[in-house]
Amino acid sequence: MNILLLGSGGREHALAWKISQSSLLSRLFIAPGNAGTALIGTNLAISVLDFPSIKKAVLEHQINMVIVGPEDPLVYGIYDFFLADPQICRVPVIGPSAKGARLEGSKDFAKQFMRRYEIPTARYMTFDKTTITAGIEFLHTLKPPYVLKADGLAAGKGVIISDSLEDAITEFTSILMENRFGSASEKVIIEEYLHGIELSVFVITDGKSFKILPEAKDYKRIGERDTGANTGGMGSVSPVPFANDSFMDKALEQIIKPTIKGLITEGIDYIGFIFFGLMNVNGNPFVIEYNCRLGDPETESIIPRLQNDLLQLFNAVATRKLEREIIQIDKRTAATVMLVSKGYPDAYEKFKVITGEKSVTGSLIFHAGTAANSETGEVITNGGRVMAVTSFGATMAEALEKSYKNAEKITYEGKHYRRDIGFDLCS
Ligand code: AMP
Ligand code: GLY
Repeated sequence: MNILLLGSGGREHALAWKISQSSLLSRLFIAPGNAGTALIGTNLAISVLDFPSIKKAVLEHQINMVIVGPEDPLVYGIYDFFLADPQICRVPVIGPSAKGARLEGSKDFAKQFMRRYEIPTARYMTFDKTTITAGIEFLHTLKPPYVLKADGLAAGKGVIISDSLEDAITEFTSILMENRFGSASEKVIIEEYLHGIELSVFVITDGKSFKILPEAKDYKRIGERDTGANTGGMGSVSPVPFANDSFMDKALEQIIKPTIKGLITEGIDYIGFIFFGLMNVNGNPFVIEYNCRLGDPETESIIPRLQNDLLQLFNAVATRKLEREIIQIDKRTAATVMLVSKGYPDAYEKFKVITGEKSVTGSLIFHAGTAANSETGEVITNGGRVMAVTSFGATMAEALEKSYKNAEKITYEGKHYRRDIGFDLCS
């Protein structure tokens, strides 16, 4: 099979690495990819949102399947774009239809969906410009911290958590009045704060049945002990010790099964991944958010643990025969440490030469924001999140030790990483 994978992060390098091991693979293309994906496939300089150019590449390279890494092409309807075009409608797109991607693309839709199927989630109400007074009244009924969420995609910046009622009211009013996130902030959700510990649970579905993939915990804050600004993710571990049978059973019965059933009931065409961002509140799972794709950096920990041939799984999804597949998971722990650029997650430095990757032993390196210097061939930094170092261990501590040892060997000016990944999971 000729495969086109869309995206350019550590998630996509991990997927490309796994796909490259498939016995079904002929040629792998990645659009736009990074310096890591260029080592195992052919990068195409096409934006993930440029659907006409993606179509052209599919025809030119006789692509048999398109795999979508990030959420925006899904929310903007790449699945439906393919289905509606007679020239490419037979090329399966692994990822949901735009209707299905609303689970991530509209928090209001997701909350209403959960309400309809009695899926545990934080109590909430949705407001717009015309209901600001009611929103302020609702805020008064809640206890701090206050959680505000822009309805649509807001590049990871759409959630505001505030300890002060006064600040929450100011933020709430200004998000709506100033259209802070463009059309994404036409509606704002105010919800109850859930106290607990978060984890990411993933399933793959063919729209009829589903399989549970390894779960992971990610570390979103820039600073150690979960302090400072939110980032796209500073590291991850899989499995998650508190995701024991009792917790996962509840997640399955109360959240995963009703979600799949809800999608079927509503006739929503959904193939691909569902990412359940869950909060463990005293042993009970609540949905914080849905995503219509895999997580980053969770993918860098979970995909190495998956022992199945990934293209065989995607084929089963595309032909709606997932039920007969058996998921096999490496029992060891995988731990991922993300190396980032100086300044990240605010304005960061770029184009720093990266060295030392070749001296890494015993870990997997997944590139994220990297590029090859076209003149010198050197690998340079080209993003805030630069590289993920993933290692296996019989224990989390062993896996982390290997990742940290190799994280030291990779060098570039301004390299930064968190040295406490997994700190909250050590017993
Ligand atoms: P997001 O930008 O959607 O990934 O959300 C940012 C983060 O806000 C989540 O990962 C949670 O840590 C936190 N969060 C969102 N909603 C809630 C909630 N209702 N209670 C507690 N924390 C929340
Ligand atoms: N790691 C969280 C995300 O991918 O959204």
